[in-house]
Amino acid sequence: MGNPNLLKYRKEYNAGFLDEKNLPETPDVLFEQWLNHAINSGAEEPLAMNLATSTTGGKPSSRIVLLREFNKKGLVFYTNYKSRKGKEIFKNHYAAVNFFWPLLERQIRIEGEIIKTKKQDSDRYFKSRPAESQISAIISEQSKQIPSRHFLEKQFQDIKTSLFEKDIMRPENWGGYILIPSLYEFWQGRPHRLNDRIVYTLDNENWEKCRLAP
Ligand SMILES: Cc1cc2nc3c(=O)[nH]c(=O)nc-3n(C[C@H](O)[C@H](O)[C@H](O)COP(=O)(O)O)c2cc1C
Repeated sequence: MGNPNLLKYRKEYNAGFLDEKNLPETPDVLFEQWLNHAINSGAEEPLAMNLATSTTGGKPSSRIVLLREFNKKGLVFYTNYKSRKGKEIFKNHYAAVNFFWPLLERQIRIEGEIIKTKKQDSDRYFKSRPAESQISAIISEQSKQIPSRHFLEKQFQDIKTSLFEKDIMRPENWGGYILIPSLYEFWQGRPHRLNDRIVYTLDNENWEKCRLAP
């Protein structure tokens, strides 16, 4: 037990810097700039974000989901409303997401409240998915215990056969959520761990900007 090599792993960050004088007034603009940069620079899985939710008792859980849209309201992702995260969001709609793009030595933390997307938006996105992914959404009771891999694949094949060449409808328990941000933190790695951290917080509909110690 114990990996002696862990301590030898030390990376210096020097890919960029953050100067608050040149930053946009609102964080959505900077978020889009960084996201587009991550996509265009070939960062792996640039849309993957770690979503943290919590029970009302304060017990947190986190997992990766994919950002499917960024609009005036916020960040949209899709999932099963009856999954563990869905149940937690139902009871406690405060959540946080985290993007990490190692190639760019950048992290973005976003916090806010979550609401469901409109049903029509979930329908539209569901329709845009490949038929196999639609079937997976139908058969998977996400986060519930299942007896085996075979059980899952049999269900998939059975539904695939019964729905052959039919329009597949979105199940009610599958759809989108929007995280409406009230805080963004932009983190840029710098040499000697003197990293740049700029936070935007929403105060009476105005975004306030400040720098945090690394
Ligand atoms: C790269 C990646 C992308 C994922 N995208 C999604 C997604 O968009 N929606 C989703 O429900 N689960 C997605 N997952 C699976 C989740 O991480 C998680 O296993 C699942 O949502 C169940 O989480 P829960 O039990 O906490 O509700 C993704 C996982 C990875 C690694």
